[in-house]
Order: sequence, then structure tokens, then C-alpha cells
Amino acid sequence: MSVNPSQVIVTGVAGFVGSHLAERLVDEGYQVVGIDCFTDYYPRAIKEANLNGLLGSSQFQLIEADIVELDWAPLLAGTEYLFHQAAQAGVRGSWGDSFGIYVRNNVLATQHLLEAARQAPLLKGLIFASSSSVYGEAEALPTPEDVIPRPVSPYGVTKVACEHLCRVYHQSYDVPVVTLRYFTAYGPRQRPDMAFCRFISAMQRDEAVTIYGDGEQTRDFTYVSDIVQANMLAMEHPHAGQVFNIGGGVRVSVNAVIDLLEQIVGKPARRSYVSRQKGDAAHTSADVTRARKLLGYEPRVGIGEGLRRQVEWLVAAAQQRCGPKHVGRPQRSVH
Ligand code: UGA
Repeated sequence: MSVNPSQVIVTGVAGFVGSHLAERLVDEGYQVVGIDCFTDYYPRAIKEANLNGLLGSSQFQLIEADIVELDWAPLLAGTEYLFHQAAQAGVRGSWGDSFGIYVRNNVLATQHLLEAARQAPLLKGLIFASSSSVYGEAEALPTPEDVIPRPVSPYGVTKVACEHLCRVYHQSYDVPVVTLRYFTAYGPRQRPDMAFCRFISAMQRDEAVTIYGDGEQTRDFTYVSDIVQANMLAMEHPHAGQVFNIGGGVRVSVNAVIDLLEQIVGKPARRSYVSRQKGDAAHTSADVTRARKLLGYEPRVGIGEGLRRQVEWLVAAAQQRCGPKHVGRPQRSVH
């Protein structure tokens, strides 16, 4: 382990990506301040479990606070890198009344952070977690970063707004922002509302998996350690003002994912096809040429191996909750 006394901040630290990233930063020797306000989008117990590997570390401090209400100046005074992972996530739930939550926790919170970052004396990088959902029905697949974003969900609209805020604060105040557009992250600790968690949990309980549309929609699924690696590279290779796609390297259909899960879990899935959801893009695919060239980014974990690790994690979690008798077991590696 290299020793590096720099202080870094991770917002959304109790979330899926935030907790993995904070663990990696602690491993690399950083002093990590983690911020989370534990919104009730999914159970607090899941978020607390995400922090299990961090809370015992002398290099980690948790602050339970809302970004919009926090007094940032003293915190940012000694901070070199700020990883802004906190967000109201979820594409399909962003319609209707809940949009106000997306505006506050995405747009307003990001603006608040950027405003504070203007005054941060030591700040070398603010790495902002954006989303493939900015593209909507992208006109080119794989999609390069300079395609004009045309989101198809209100959530995607808030992420575009955040990206523009990052750009104007960089242009006007030199805030050293780098934007990473994550393409459907998955792996252990994935949010329970996301597809793989829902599919695996349903199969464990011998319930039908719900598939939106005909299941032929495709995603460039990205394993969480590749997302973490992209954040580390964005810190090590400063490219303030840049936007990078961060994808997993292969486009896979939802039907093909369930085929793979059947092999991994070792039993057939009952498939229940329901109507396509508003806000879901038909296809996503990351052109990672820029990230490869400027950051040295290369996705390392393929879908078969990544799914196997996510199944293992959910099997272990289910065993902890209710004993081993109701759960399927990973059968063999699929690549
Ligand atoms: C995910 C995250 O939820 C967003 O927060 C993130 O910003 C986005 O990735 C992104 O990459 O921009 P999504 O791609 O919808 O959004 O991820 P999943 O919830 O894992 O869904 C993947 C696919 O499975 C979608 O096509 C969806 O229609 C499908 N799905 C999902 C089902 O067929 N059934 C389900 O029960 C859930």
C-alpha cells in the first residue's frame, strides 16, 4: 500500500459506486471523507452494509449530511479531490411528482458543490458521476462523447443539466471538473431497483423475472471495478473540462443477460414480458476511445465474470438474511 496523506471526499459514499470507490481510495492510502444523507430511495440497512468495509478504518470518516445544507468551506479547505457520486438515480422513476427530488438532489446539489469548489484552495479535481442516460436514443452506436445529448427520461435531463453546470463553472471559475458518463454499472452492491439485482433476486425466490418490452434492448453494462478504475485514472491524469464515456466494452441484450444468469444460477428463469417503460433508451453503447487515449482506461471485467460475482454476492447476502435453504448457488464461470 502506498502512503499518501491527501484528503479526498466521496459524496454518496454509502451508495453502490461510492462505497467501492471509497474502499479503493482507502487501500491506496488516501484519507477519505465520505458524505451521505441516506435518502430513503432504498433501505438504509443496505447502505449501512455497504459501509462495513470502511467504518473501521482510521483513514475513513463518515459525515451524514445533505449536500445542499452542508457547510462546505471547512471541509474543502484541505481537500485535493472530490468525487461527486451522490445523486437521485433511477431512470424509470423520474416522471411525475418525484421529479422535484431529482432536481434537488442532482441539479441543485451539484450547483451547490460547484459553488463551494470555487473557493477550495487545494482542489485539483472534481470528478462528476454522470450517466449514459444523457444520450437517450443515441444517433450513433457506439456513441462518442460529442454526440448532442437528447435524454429520453427526466432523470437524464437532470444529468445533462449537471454536466452543463460543471462546464460553466469550469469555464468561468476554473473549477477542475472531469465528467465520467457511466454506462449501467453492475456488480456487488448494485442498487436493488436495477435490473440485475431484480433478476437474480427473483430467480432466488423462484419468482418470474419481469422484462420490460421484448428484452431485445441492449446495454453496455459496466462492472463496478472498471467504474472505480476510471475514477482513479481521472484523478491521476488531470483533464479538467473533459467528458469521458465509461463503458464495459460489450453491448448485451436483456434476454442474453437472463440466458447467462440461468447458466450461473443453474436453473431456468420464468420470464414475464411486460410493456416497455417510458424513459428507457433502446440501446446504449460507449465509444471509449477518448478515455482509452487520455486516461488509459480499459474495461477489464467481462459480463459473464461480472454477473457471476454479483450472483455470489447476492447469494451470500441472502444467506445472511434467511439462511441458505432458499437460495440458488453460482454453478460455474461463464465468460
Ligand atoms: C441505469 C441506472 O439505473 C441509472 O441510474 C444510470 O444512470 C443508467 O444506468 C445509465 O447508465 O445511465 P438502466 O440502464 O435502466 O439505468 O439500468 P437497469 O435498471 O439495470 O436496466 C437495464 C435494462 O434492463 C433496461 O433496459 C431495463 O428496461 C431492463 N429492465 C430493468 C427490465 O427489463 N426489467 C427490470 O425489472 C429492470
